[in-house]
Amino acid sequence: MLQQKSLDWADTAPERAMTLPARYFYDPKVFEAERERIFYPAWHCVAHLSELRQPGQFVTFDILDQSVIVSNDAGSLHAFHNACQHRGNRLTNERRGETGPVFRCGYHSWCYGRDGALRNAPRTERLPDFDKTQFGLKPVQLEVLGSFVFINMDPDAAPLAAIAPGAEAKMAQYLPDLADMRLISEVDVIVPANWKVIMDNSIEGYHFGLSGPVHKELAALIDFKQYALEAHDKWWTYIGPPNGDVDSAYGVPLACATWQTDWFFNIGIWPNTTFYCFPFADICGTFLMIPLEPEKSLLRFGYYGPAGRAMPEVTKACIQWMNQQLGPEDIALNVTNQKGLRSFGYNQGRYLIDAARSNESEHLVHHFHRLVHQAVRPALVP
Ligand code: FES
Ligand SMILES: [Fe+2]
Repeated sequence: MLQQKSLDWADTAPERAMTLPARYFYDPKVFEAERERIFYPAWHCVAHLSELRQPGQFVTFDILDQSVIVSNDAGSLHAFHNACQHRGNRLTNERRGETGPVFRCGYHSWCYGRDGALRNAPRTERLPDFDKTQFGLKPVQLEVLGSFVFINMDPDAAPLAAIAPGAEAKMAQYLPDLADMRLISEVDVIVPANWKVIMDNSIEGYHFGLSGPVHKELAALIDFKQYALEAHDKWWTYIGPPNGDVDSAYGVPLACATWQTDWFFNIGIWPNTTFYCFPFADICGTFLMIPLEPEKSLLRFGYYGPAGRAMPEVTKACIQWMNQQLGPEDIALNVTNQKGLRSFGYNQGRYLIDAARSNESEHLVHHFHRLVHQAVRPALVP
């Protein structure tokens, strides 16, 4: 008889370790444990500060069955749950918008200030002891890291700086214009794969020279021998210096172009936020793997560029190359990877982890799996 695959994973020395068992990538019980123990209490990147510069501007961020609004009220930012305090109606479905003086609930017109306080609730003068101050929108933690706005629904969550100490300084080192960015575009792609399949793909260089042609193009833009992947507990970096011999990138000559950094810079923050810059491109990209279902994720590509500066041709070409070439080449791998994980003929493989933690070593994948395992395992043992 065919057996249900095991969830047991021996957290042994990385060089000898077997990969996280396949069931972690599709089992609804694992997904439920991740929801409770990873995503609800996590810091989520929702926008860059520039998207909330003007009073009245707001963004919403949806994660699983939750939705959070971040709003600018007279210059200060507030985050609250996107649920009216009358009968719970969701207040807005817009990803970004501008509110008037208030957020008005579409059901019975309760109106909330941009700070979340209840301002007006029709007919409630008929109620005994109705106290408006008791019915403000429920607040959510908010922090800024590297000029990006993060929220956390867990009131007891540790500050982002404690989770990713040193991450902000590292970003500033490679992305000098972080504070002065504006949103260029945001592209959402639904991928039929578990969120970790996408993450695993993004944090190893083993497949660069061995998968598709676009990956080889990327590897050729950097001094791939110097590509270094480094884990720091709940954050990690993978960074490569530029290949000094190239004079064009993404099909465009580099002459006269300006850029944020000529390095290939990536930084991941637990559990699912990545900031990056491609070599010779004047952008900071965000790459978010937002889980939807055990085997379905929303991949959100945000592109931010320096405000008030014309976008160089090479940067335009880079964004197009990411959306139309590298992204799809990786997504195709995510989809086939997800299918294989389901096979009765697969459960675990060996990580390619070498003693030197080289440019092709999968030590970040192991590190990430260990964090996931530590977070969910207690909920899965009977
Ligand atoms: S549910 Fe919002 S006003 Fe009634
Ligand atoms: Fe890739």
